[in-house]
Amino acid sequence: MDIPTTGHDPVLLPEILEHLALKPGAVAVDCTTGRGGHTQALASAVGASGTILALDYDPRNLEFAKQRLEGLPVRFFHANFSELDAALAAAGISEVDGILADLGISTNQLFEREYGLSFSVDQPLNMRLDPRGRTSAKTIINSWPEEKIANLLFQLADERFSRRIARKIVEARKQSPINTTEHLAELVRSVVPHVRSKGRSVEIDPATRTFLALRMAVNGEMENLERLLKIAPKFLKSGGRIAIISFHSTEDRLVKQAFRSAEQTGVLKVITSKPLVPSDAEISANPRSRSAKLRVAQKP
Ligand SMILES: C[S@@+](CC[C@H](N)C(=O)[O-])C[C@H]1O[C@@H](n2cnc3c(N)ncnc32)[C@H](O)[C@@H]1O
Repeated sequence: MDIPTTGHDPVLLPEILEHLALKPGAVAVDCTTGRGGHTQALASAVGASGTILALDYDPRNLEFAKQRLEGLPVRFFHANFSELDAALAAAGISEVDGILADLGISTNQLFEREYGLSFSVDQPLNMRLDPRGRTSAKTIINSWPEEKIANLLFQLADERFSRRIARKIVEARKQSPINTTEHLAELVRSVVPHVRSKGRSVEIDPATRTFLALRMAVNGEMENLERLLKIAPKFLKSGGRIAIISFHSTEDRLVKQAFRSAEQTGVLKVITSKPLVPSDAEISANPRSRSAKLRVAQKP
């Protein structure tokens, strides 16, 4: 797959601008700045009298965005969005008009060697997006007990063959440590049948779910999202909106349930009764957008 020159194409951009509806002078947080595509558009919407607080826990992407967006009303923070409260306190801001989180990884992170995330290119096994993270995928694969690895694959990515994969990993590491993405992907492919995904002509690599589950575990993705969903409404002004783009069902379920229960207690009002998804034109221009789902809620 081609990598765009910016390293990533922002998904659902017109939908984000329409639903966050930021006015000139507004203050908003982009929790996942990445390569700065959404941040740039949000900064144009709020103009010179507004502010975008741009967070990312990957300092390499944050630095790229900082250089790309020089001169725009954006303040950058190397922070995990699960610590939105601390980032806002550091910025001296108590309430904002909008919060965006575009979950997961940017295209460049998938292909750049240092991240060690790709099952289609051989790389040292890593998967830590925040270099401060303590546990890498290599540590999990080479030291966790078989049952714990199986549970991780099943719980985070609904991997039906979790037990088989975990058994194969534990057998293989007795011979030699599993240090590369290709070694791991080959082990998974040797025990998981190739299947065609519903409605798609292309085959899905059997290693997809294993790599997704590991990335989620290494980066604490579900825990981070849970905490963001819990604390974010406190920091929205009345009428302020939160927009979350997710890329797989485990994440989307969490967002849907959190928005629904916030609605039941009167904390938020759900704006998107069904998630918004990319148009056919967006999917053909940017195939990585195909699984994106956008949910938006508003503080009453
Ligand atoms: C899908 S990309 C965002 C792309 C971005 N919207 C753009 O237009 O370039 C996700 C980004 O969020 C970052 N990220 C993921 N989880 C995070 C978290 N818990 N806290 C802060 N940043 C996070 C990743 O490092 C990555 O740069």
